[in-house]
Amino acid sequence: MTSSSYGYFDDANKEYVVTTPFTPLPWINYLGNNGFFGLISNTSGGYSFYRDAKFRRITRYRYNNVPMDSGGRYFYINDGGTVWNPGGRPVRTELDHYECRHGMGYSKFIGRKNAVEVEQTTFIPLEDTCEIHRVKVTNQGDSAKTLKLFSSLEWCLWNAEDDGANFQRNFSTGEVEVVDSTIYHKTEYRERRNHYSFFSVNAPLAGFDTDRQHFVGVYNDYSCPKAVMDSACTNSEAHGWSPVAAHQLDVELAPGESKTFVFVMGYVEVDADNKWQAPGIINKAPAADMQAKYDTEAKATAALKTLTDYWDNLLSRFTVKSGDDRLNRALNIWNQYQNMVTFNMSRSASYFESGIGRGMGFRDSNQDTIGFAHMVPSAVRERIVDLAATQQSDGSAYHQYQPLTKKGNADVGGNFNDDPMWLVLAVANYVKESGDTDFLHFVVPFEDTPEVPSTIYHHLKASFYHVVNNLGPHQLPLIGRADWNDCLNLNCFSTEPNESYQTTQRGDSKVAESLMIAGQFVLYGNEFVEIAKLLGMDVDASEAQPHIDAMVASVKQHGWDGEWFLRAYDSQSKPIGSQQNDEGKIFIESQGFCTMAGIGFDDGKAEQALDSVEKHLACEYGVMLQQPAYSDYNPLYGEITSYPPGYKENAGIFCHNNPWIVVAEAMLGRADKALSYYTRITPSFIEHLTERHKTEPYVYSQMISGQDAYIQGEAKNSWLTGTAAWNYYAATQYILGIRPEYNGLRIEPCLDKSLGDVQIVRHFRDAVYHITINQGDGTGKGIASMTIDGKPVAGDLVEYADYAGEHQIEVVLN
Ligand code: GLC
Ligand code: GLC
Repeated sequence: MTSSSYGYFDDANKEYVVTTPFTPLPWINYLGNNGFFGLISNTSGGYSFYRDAKFRRITRYRYNNVPMDSGGRYFYINDGGTVWNPGGRPVRTELDHYECRHGMGYSKFIGRKNAVEVEQTTFIPLEDTCEIHRVKVTNQGDSAKTLKLFSSLEWCLWNAEDDGANFQRNFSTGEVEVVDSTIYHKTEYRERRNHYSFFSVNAPLAGFDTDRQHFVGVYNDYSCPKAVMDSACTNSEAHGWSPVAAHQLDVELAPGESKTFVFVMGYVEVDADNKWQAPGIINKAPAADMQAKYDTEAKATAALKTLTDYWDNLLSRFTVKSGDDRLNRALNIWNQYQNMVTFNMSRSASYFESGIGRGMGFRDSNQDTIGFAHMVPSAVRERIVDLAATQQSDGSAYHQYQPLTKKGNADVGGNFNDDPMWLVLAVANYVKESGDTDFLHFVVPFEDTPEVPSTIYHHLKASFYHVVNNLGPHQLPLIGRADWNDCLNLNCFSTEPNESYQTTQRGDSKVAESLMIAGQFVLYGNEFVEIAKLLGMDVDASEAQPHIDAMVASVKQHGWDGEWFLRAYDSQSKPIGSQQNDEGKIFIESQGFCTMAGIGFDDGKAEQALDSVEKHLACEYGVMLQQPAYSDYNPLYGEITSYPPGYKENAGIFCHNNPWIVVAEAMLGRADKALSYYTRITPSFIEHLTERHKTEPYVYSQMISGQDAYIQGEAKNSWLTGTAAWNYYAATQYILGIRPEYNGLRIEPCLDKSLGDVQIVRHFRDAVYHITINQGDGTGKGIASMTIDGKPVAGDLVEYADYAGEHQIEVVLN
């Protein structure tokens, strides 16, 4: 347990404990695993949605509001006129004790005031589309108490974008029903919707409200809702305006007595023929079924136990015990947890992503799988199928798709030329992890040729040839609108403030080329060749290889600037990321990708490129994206130059790409540097920077401001970032060096001495390996000897065919 002034890690319970409601920013958690999701802050703010944060928003949230974090599921106590929330907000009554425990799929709030304690535990059970709040109220004093307990949430009218904009309509559509202790939100059910939500509690009500003006008051807010302050709900029925759901319970407690209530907020779909149980009265059977599963404390507690068991089991698939607790905490708990969240959410809904913009990104979602394939391989398989289905037969891909429809987003379209190669990474990583080589033959037609039975293998081949067929004047890959760096827009010349930088493509120069895609092509092109060989497609393999060799030659001939790899050629065929430039002389992406591809290992260029990264890009808070920052907007380069220096893609520390350098350093065998870069951005190692960082100390953020910024080292955009999957991948597969391959598990650590000897438990397909890594006296790179179940084995590969089941593996490093 370490601590900052805002909280501490409780590793035994896999929790982060927040000790004040007034964190520098709201610190959130995610609830839900299978379609029903909730975001919940350390004061119980946030919202819930079903599958799609835009089209099925269930509760309302006001982004970028004052005060911050407006909207949530709030419980209020009115104790003889003293009003407070167990989550410490929105009422600002100072509590005698406050803590919020964010755990794996649940958040628990403990508030205490005047000898009354309320413990609110909120979670989404594994099997149902509902959010459960187990609320336990205890009288810790020595006299009897009569308290009023209120719940409250505000319904969103389903389409989150419309809900925040189309008031001429939506102030008239709201409809509810109240029966016993359940409030039903049936807005638009009369027309085309076959779904509704409800909020219930397993106790008789003293009152309720369903209309916001009655519950909150027109000029009050959630810090002083009128009904709570008045100690009585009004039994209001919403017709239009803003429907809410608020329960009032009168709670009598003897000294020392506790009472527990279970609140359930659920979402149900009803088949179209059975929508009504009487004219105008919704069919409540599906809601009743769901409520019955959680209508006692024991049932709710059992559902919570099932959830925590599920997480214990998931996380046990890969555990590490090194000499540094911060590494163990990152890899055993929080990084894996974040990997699940990024896999589920892509970049759609966080406190920085409004849930109404982007759906699932092609490149983002492919990369997210590499941190998750060892956890739930079947989900990764399904995701890859969805992604591949948005690819075109020429290998290009829709840049995004909407999770509810799974259709490519035509407004954004494609032409981001790095996209296709990420599919190769995702598929190769999945097949190595799972051993599911049959997947390569699985039929998923291309989006534009639905009648052709193309296989996953055909998709990989199309990805490969999309690069080959789109080369520029230096025989380097054309960049399209952008490569991984969405903001380096070399064919989109935007001069109008209302245009999108990335889709305003004016012509296609057929000139702008990317060294990042070049490296990516060599790295994942080699994966494609390996897969072709694995399937016995030797002709494909031997036809592909020369394209890779030629790319390596082009990079060496046209992509080397003297001390590092160039970043790109622009639409005038002038270099970017070169000594010749005044600004943006060196970029991280091409250094990472060309070296990870193994380019320049034979002639010292790889080492030189990484030394240049250290010299020019590395700083205390991480590795910056480029240097020097651009000082002015340049339409030829696009969005990257739109940001003030030091922020986002303009020389910020854009954490996603830092692990590329970690991997490359490990490949070079420089264990100290690999670990140093890894730890600069890893949350558990930088807890002491929380005040400066501001974002949650248990998860990665997308961006940390760089040394050109007005405020340096400040993080933004926490949670939904490819950093999670990539830094996990870098740490487990390259620092610890536990690397799945088609035939088995490769063990090739690059371990800094400070980590000591390391014990690992790795579930791999149906095997369980107990691995001990003993530091040798040398470099920490590669292994000097290996034994399996006490017997010496040559090399560093644990062949799966020979070692299914449970085995003890001991390695000693060089
Ligand atoms: C964002 C995008 C990602 C892109 C990155 C760099 O994180 O989601 O697709 O690669 O920014 O621009
Ligand atoms: C904006 C962001 C960038 C992100 C992109 C995704 O350009 O600055 O980080 O990748 O949007 O569309």
